[in-house]
Amino acid sequence: MTAKTTDQQRPPAEVRFADELARLRADDPAPRPPGWAMSVDAARRFIVGDPARDVPRKFVGDPSLVDRALITLATNRGLLLVGEPGTAKSLLSELIAAAVSGESTLTIQGGAATTEDHIRYSWNYALLVAEGPSTRSLVPAPLLRGMAEGRLVRFEEITRCPLEVQDTLLSPLSDRVIAIPELEGEDSMVFAREGFNIIATANSRDRGVNEMSAALKRRFNFETVFPIPDLATELSLVEREAAALLTRSGVPVAQRPEVMEVLVTAFRDLRSGGERLSTVMSTAEAVSVAHAVGLRGWYLRGEPGSPEDVVECLAGTAAKDNADDLAKLRRYLEQQVPRRGGAHWAELHRARMRLPG
Ligand SMILES: Nc1ncnc2c1ncn2[C@@H]1O[C@H](COP(=O)(O)OP(=O)(O)O)[C@@H](O)[C@H]1O
Ligand SMILES: [Mg+2]
Repeated sequence: MTAKTTDQQRPPAEVRFADELARLRADDPAPRPPGWAMSVDAARRFIVGDPARDVPRKFVGDPSLVDRALITLATNRGLLLVGEPGTAKSLLSELIAAAVSGESTLTIQGGAATTEDHIRYSWNYALLVAEGPSTRSLVPAPLLRGMAEGRLVRFEEITRCPLEVQDTLLSPLSDRVIAIPELEGEDSMVFAREGFNIIATANSRDRGVNEMSAALKRRFNFETVFPIPDLATELSLVEREAAALLTRSGVPVAQRPEVMEVLVTAFRDLRSGGERLSTVMSTAEAVSVAHAVGLRGWYLRGEPGSPEDVVECLAGTAAKDNADDLAKLRRYLEQQVPRRGGAHWAELHRARMRLPG
């Protein structure tokens, strides 16, 4: 397993945290909901951390949100995580699925081109033509597998799917059954086993959850995931995540704390301050910019990233949606940055010349 997975760019949560999950399962006296791989209490500790057992915090946020999310999944309603891009909705759903079902890969990626086949099942056409419809020629998609195996199914970016495709979930969620009319006898109905439920995510910037059919909305509990409120928490998360990414990328030097602080503070200013950009300056973006800053420093000059690298990387992140954002970024570097004291802020100010145009 290790030999095979070490060069994967991002193994699933159940592989990354296999050891913690095994420890939590082994010492878990609390009652488990039917079909769950661990108790609600153990799943919660896996996600929000438990220093006493050397389990680090993975999702930074309100622990009561995690409790509500887990309890919803033990009911017969689905869970819909809603929020701005980059607030860790996908991460949270992955962690929950790994804890509750031991597997986070039963995932449907929603998009304009998603069809029922990607959700329920399709056919192996060679076998279908040769043998006719049978359980051998049936190709189950994540929803069918989740129901048959009693596991959580993740549905990413559900609101990006056409409405009629979203409504494919209605009968699995209410009647807990999928009909396969092509098959005969007991194979023609797949009944959900205990442990099955759906965790969907939706970005509040995409076509809204408002457009979801009322019938489907009723079958989900909604939970909003908010950006991290305070600088210190966001900074330590970005430092930790970027350090892990840089290690994987072969960068042996640690990033300078002052540079990370400048970076995360700038993200927060551009997210909500006077020069608020229309691009989402999320924590997830901050992590990826911090990673890029470290890569520039090391692979271009053999040292940690600098404030100049921050400006170089910000330009590509900030100016995605419209030209106004680049102008705002320039004003921010010219006018607000010099007001902050400290050598790194002065360096950031000088580096404004590196913005394109
Ligand atoms: N509250 C948070 N807790 C932990 N990681 C976070 C948090 N917010 C952002 N992140 C970072 O962002 C990444 C996740 O973003 P993602 O789950 O893809 O967001 P979303 O699905 O909301 O767009 C994580 O891998 C982590 O590095
Ligand atoms: Mg996501």
